[in-house]
Amino acid sequence: MNYRHSFHAGNSADVVKHSLLIALVRALQQKPGALTLIDTHAGCGLYDLDGDEAQRTGESTQGVQRAFADPNPLLDDYRAAVQAVNVGAEQHLYPGSPRILAQLLRPQDFLILNEKHPEDAYALRGVMRGTSAAVHERDAYELWLAMLPTRTPRGVVVVDPPYEQTDERARITATLAAAHRKWAHGVTVIWYPLKDRATHWRWKQQLRRLGIPKLLMVEHWLYDGEQPGIYNGAGLYIVNPPYAFTQALPPLLEALRVALAPEGHRGEITADWLGD
Ligand SMILES: C[S@@+](CC[C@H](N)C(=O)[O-])C[C@H]1O[C@@H](n2cnc3c(N)ncnc32)[C@H](O)[C@@H]1O
Repeated sequence: MNYRHSFHAGNSADVVKHSLLIALVRALQQKPGALTLIDTHAGCGLYDLDGDEAQRTGESTQGVQRAFADPNPLLDDYRAAVQAVNVGAEQHLYPGSPRILAQLLRPQDFLILNEKHPEDAYALRGVMRGTSAAVHERDAYELWLAMLPTRTPRGVVVVDPPYEQTDERARITATLAAAHRKWAHGVTVIWYPLKDRATHWRWKQQLRRLGIPKLLMVEHWLYDGEQPGIYNGAGLYIVNPPYAFTQALPPLLEALRVALAPEGHRGEITADWLGD
């Protein structure tokens, strides 16, 4: 496990992922029933964008910094979530998914976080101290299945792996199939990087064969045209997205596309049902 999210925090993929997570949880919270939020690959929870690792890649300049430079009010919730972990005008801290999800909790909701890397798990425990979140240090795929069905009738599982293992997609496919058998109505969000369309297309075919009736695919292609082998954006598979979320999605996706488009590129964000 070499991947450290501190090199990538606040990049364009984080902006899309965290914006959509906020919108998704808020949509589910339109009903008062309790939610269990499970983050299987939680990372450190909080990142210093002025730190060596973030500065070495500079990825946040193409992500959170662009989102703050764009005036679109549809990005206000995302910007407020980032602002909430910073004190005063100086803004150098970036909240990972654990700190974002923790901000959304109502008294009746639960947050379960998991991170396998010992150093990141230690950091995560530190930054979540004082919140109601439970922190685990287990294998994500083992925990994902062990936690289902959730203790509350409704819940969200967020799966955000680094994809450094060649079998990551296969493990996700197998675990999603088993999870769906245990918890068919649950909401699951799976993040993935987009490199070439062929790899992505093959995985889509495998997921399609699972026969999950409501699986939404959001794809954010950063650059116009194929960029073989190079990171070209990211996507989210969302199982059982709530209606209020899918209704609100098109203008939010367009706001994200505009805010995050690299110089000289239009970019593209689409949302389609797998199976259509
Ligand atoms: C992309 S980062 C998570 C970022 C976080 N979800 C966020 O949005 O702020 C992926 C994390 O998964 C952890 N990880 C990798 N393989 C894992 C596994 N099998 N089980 C649990 N955690 C794992 C890595 O150490 C890394 O911190």
